[in-house]
Amino acid sequence: MSTITAPRGVRDILPEESWKWAHVLSATGKIAYAHSYREIHLPVFEQTDLFSRGIGETTDVVEKEMYTFLDRGKRSLTLRPEATASMVRAYLQNKMQSDQQPVKLWCAGPMFRYERPQKGRYRQFWQIDVEALGSDNPLVDVEVISVALALFEDLGLSNLDVVINSVGCPACRPAYREELQTYFSDHIDELCETCKSRLHRNPLRILDCKNERCREITENAPDIYSSLCQECRVHFDAVLDGLRMLGIHFHLDKRLVRGLDYYTKTAFEVLSGELGAQNAVCGGGRYDNLSEAVGGPHLPGVGFAAGLERIVLIMEQQQCSFGRKPSIDIYVVSADETSRKEAFSLVTELRKNGLKADLDFLDRSMKAQFKSAVSKESKFTCILGESEISEGTVTLKDLRTGEQVAVPRQEAASYVLSRI
Ligand code: HAM
Repeated sequence: MSTITAPRGVRDILPEESWKWAHVLSATGKIAYAHSYREIHLPVFEQTDLFSRGIGETTDVVEKEMYTFLDRGKRSLTLRPEATASMVRAYLQNKMQSDQQPVKLWCAGPMFRYERPQKGRYRQFWQIDVEALGSDNPLVDVEVISVALALFEDLGLSNLDVVINSVGCPACRPAYREELQTYFSDHIDELCETCKSRLHRNPLRILDCKNERCREITENAPDIYSSLCQECRVHFDAVLDGLRMLGIHFHLDKRLVRGLDYYTKTAFEVLSGELGAQNAVCGGGRYDNLSEAVGGPHLPGVGFAAGLERIVLIMEQQQCSFGRKPSIDIYVVSADETSRKEAFSLVTELRKNGLKADLDFLDRSMKAQFKSAVSKESKFTCILGESEISEGTVTLKDLRTGEQVAVPRQEAASYVLSRI
């Protein structure tokens, strides 16, 4: 029988990497709370309708990428492909409209999309998701972008590019859609197969097609800015002014339309040259009609999600610091058979005194135990043998300096604690 492996596109985050994730998540908490965003934990699966109605029936995510299944009660459920729709659902279900607005929340966790795996693209991946619900003030858009950038700065990421666009609203977008349809109809034969099928269902998505010929054609496509209604234009100008006020550099990108249909007005991404084809480390925008799409009242909102794997990838490539790698303070080495049990009790004492301590469980030689101490990057070893037990002492060795001392057993913890 062949051994079972993880499904394609999902992977284990091994201890060599997981401590780096912990660093990013801890920085996220710090930055989010500094901006007064509070953490929420959301379910990993939701009713399928939340996503199909919220994200949009004609999006790639809903059409091709969702992990949807029937549960034993024949209800259609979907592993969340993103967190924004769930945030809105949680806001409505928990009646957060009676809290002070905007309600500012963040979460982190795994998302699931059936995409073709490649560097920085997985079928299970983690997002850090930050949302502000209940305000249409353009300064909230600016705040959300500045939270993302504050996080990236805190983590030491450099050479990032902020791109921004306005995708209009239901008042002005239909006319723009029509303009695009007319323009692209004249080039229908030159478009890639995917874009041909997008022409009537979702012509805006043609604008961000990666195909070279489609890109050439979109160069001369009508510009969304000239189609924006007064309200969208004023909003967009205010967002750009706010960004300038905070000294945030950005590029306008009229092709940026994003892959989720709920966006209104602001759409933005943060790109990194370090990521190859999947160059977005973060994407977000405003979604003032998402709540209505899932059956709720009018609820403006804006937010972003950043890919955790992609953040770590950039940090590794740019040799950013992940803080201190977890290691142990002390490794207890048993010098002989009789001291093995006592070593276990000593390790327990040391742990109770606040030390990160470990020992051997495989009855290995002293030499092998020392090797373990080194490979676990322990700062000290503590040697315990028959003579030490009878004298009530232990021999401590500082592995960084080679210095070795005998101390009374009850003083071992305080000795090490004062030197780490
Ligand atoms: P998104 O652009 O689909 O937006 O995803 C946001 C980020 O998640 C991407 O920029 C990328 O870093 C990461 N990501 C997406 N798909 C994958 C994948 N297959 N593998 C690895 N990383 C991936 C959203 O999900 C929106 N909910 C963002 C948002 C929040 N808009 C408003 N609020």
